[in-house]
Amino acid sequence: MKLSSIVLAPLLVSAAVVGAAEADPPTRILVAFHSQTGNTEALAHLVRDGVASVEGVEARLRKVGAVTDEEILQADGILLGTPVHWATVSVETRTFLDRVGGVLLQAGLLQREGRTAGAFCTGGGAAMGKEMARLTILNAFLTMRFLVIGGIEGDGFGTLGPEATTPDPKSPLASEEKQAARDSGERFARLTRQVRLGVGR
Ligand SMILES: Cc1cc2nc3c(=O)[nH]c(=O)nc-3n(C[C@H](O)[C@H](O)[C@H](O)COP(=O)(O)O)c2cc1C
Repeated sequence: MKLSSIVLAPLLVSAAVVGAAEADPPTRILVAFHSQTGNTEALAHLVRDGVASVEGVEARLRKVGAVTDEEILQADGILLGTPVHWATVSVETRTFLDRVGGVLLQAGLLQREGRTAGAFCTGGGAAMGKEMARLTILNAFLTMRFLVIGGIEGDGFGTLGPEATTPDPKSPLASEEKQAARDSGERFARLTRQVRLGVGR
């Protein structure tokens, strides 16, 4: 074997590996949440676990105030969680939505196709605003041109996204709420990856 092929062979292999990685970059999913007393944070961890279970997906879990502009710009999908405050999203969640739109607009990237969005929430009452809170999030993301993906529950029906009824701070989540959060996170990540691979960057 010539000296040149001994030297070049490993370089060619590394170039092929780098090329494959570039052709199939990880799908980045941001799980952002606001939580005052810990309930939405607990749900966010389960959603993140579901997201992280999908191969080829990179999951980031962040409090809304800790998300950087770079993370917003890089996200292929954003799952946003809120506590229900007076039958809608919390002020902090609304501020984050404004920020996502502002960052994408300023970067001239609002028109980039293929970003996905989802919502999750916790509320003290069974029917005191959880639907409105999630719809408010999904509505904002639709206006920012995201593709909206809902959640799934145990009987196989679709939902507006994971939710839990939490009468007290640090309320224990019911096992079916936990399962739906994980399953919905997994489905969100799987579908986002398919969209991203189909649409490209
Ligand atoms: C200011 C405020 C307003 C609230 N309004 C509602 C409401 O309208 N409907 C509801 O179901 N729960 C309401 N709750 C209860 C919270 O949604 C619930 O405790 C939630 O799980 C808190 O989430 P966190 O622990 O992530 O902050 C309210 C709580 C606060 C602090």
